[in-house]
Amino acid sequence: MIPSNAPVIEIHSVSKQFGDRMAVDNLDLEVPARTCFGLLGPNGAGKTTTLRMIYGVTRPSSGTILVFGMDIGRNSRAVRARLGVTLQQNVLIEALSPKENLRVFGRYHLLHEPELSRRAEELINFLELRSHADIPVKRLSGGFQRRLAIALSLINGPELLILDEPTTGLDPAVRLALWSRIRELRASGTTVLVTTHYMDEAQRLCDRVAIVSAGKVIRSGAPAELIAGLAAETIELDCSIEEEAALLDGFAANAQCLRIGQRLMIYLENTSGLIDHIRHSDHGDRRPIIVRPTNLEDVYLSLTGTSLEGGS
Ligand SMILES: Nc1ncnc2c1ncn2[C@@H]1O[C@H](COP(=O)(O)OP(=O)(O)OP(=O)(O)O)[C@@H](O)[C@H]1O
Ligand SMILES: [Mg+2]
Repeated sequence: MIPSNAPVIEIHSVSKQFGDRMAVDNLDLEVPARTCFGLLGPNGAGKTTTLRMIYGVTRPSSGTILVFGMDIGRNSRAVRARLGVTLQQNVLIEALSPKENLRVFGRYHLLHEPELSRRAEELINFLELRSHADIPVKRLSGGFQRRLAIALSLINGPELLILDEPTTGLDPAVRLALWSRIRELRASGTTVLVTTHYMDEAQRLCDRVAIVSAGKVIRSGAPAELIAGLAAETIELDCSIEEEAALLDGFAANAQCLRIGQRLMIYLENTSGLIDHIRHSDHGDRRPIIVRPTNLEDVYLSLTGTSLEGGS
């Protein structure tokens, strides 16, 4: 086993270039053992490319990646035996049932009877696939297929689990159930590296996150730390660009703002002064105002922006 304080993944100055495009640009990252680590960022930020380099299917253009203390370039077989991966796109044998898929993947990982059947049964229960265990995969809904893909990545009892957008397209109940499975795995000592576009998911699930944009880490830390670094409270309201200066009069220096069309988000340690100011302005402003705790999505959007061209 890995000592509890040693990082499971160490990425040092890693770049990956596709033609003239820098998908990953001089990236440094450490994933501590027994944590759930979130890699967040816009479309095209380089998350999948980073994961592919970590499990050894894409070679970095430069830099080094150590997994379990081993250079992935030189020890990919030894490393892969100890990790599990759920890709962004499911890799399933469509003509076979979940049970049969699990058995095929188990044999690939050199599992033999009775361990093979025991492990397949355990994962069918763990991902709640029992009712669909014997139906060909091509007849399963997207949510069941996703659950099976995650089950397959657990067949070898991995010490490190890599999940590329595991919950995209899942209904809310299944997402919640999956989070609880991921927590169980982490509690039993598995290190989890996950990408997600759902910031509520990252906030609830991850011990640490790194926000990447254009192949670089632009901020990393525990979700609570990152949120505290922005502001405790958020005001949301509709206001035009012309109205903004008067609305924020006297408060602009302490507030960070984010505008999405007419919607203005104002981040402040304490919002009560500004709310009073808006309510008691000359016009007795009655516009609807939402006041809420700042969350990881606010941090993410304030760092990565809100345009559709943010990624690529
Ligand atoms: N095999 C490839 N050949 C050429 N360019 C590639 C290849 N794989 C990725 N890229 C480019 O590298 C950049 C990063 O892609 P990547 O798939 O890592 O992004 P991502 O952060 O996972 O995005 P998403 O959130 O959309 O999944 C993109 O500009 C993409 O077009
Ligand atoms: Mg991706």
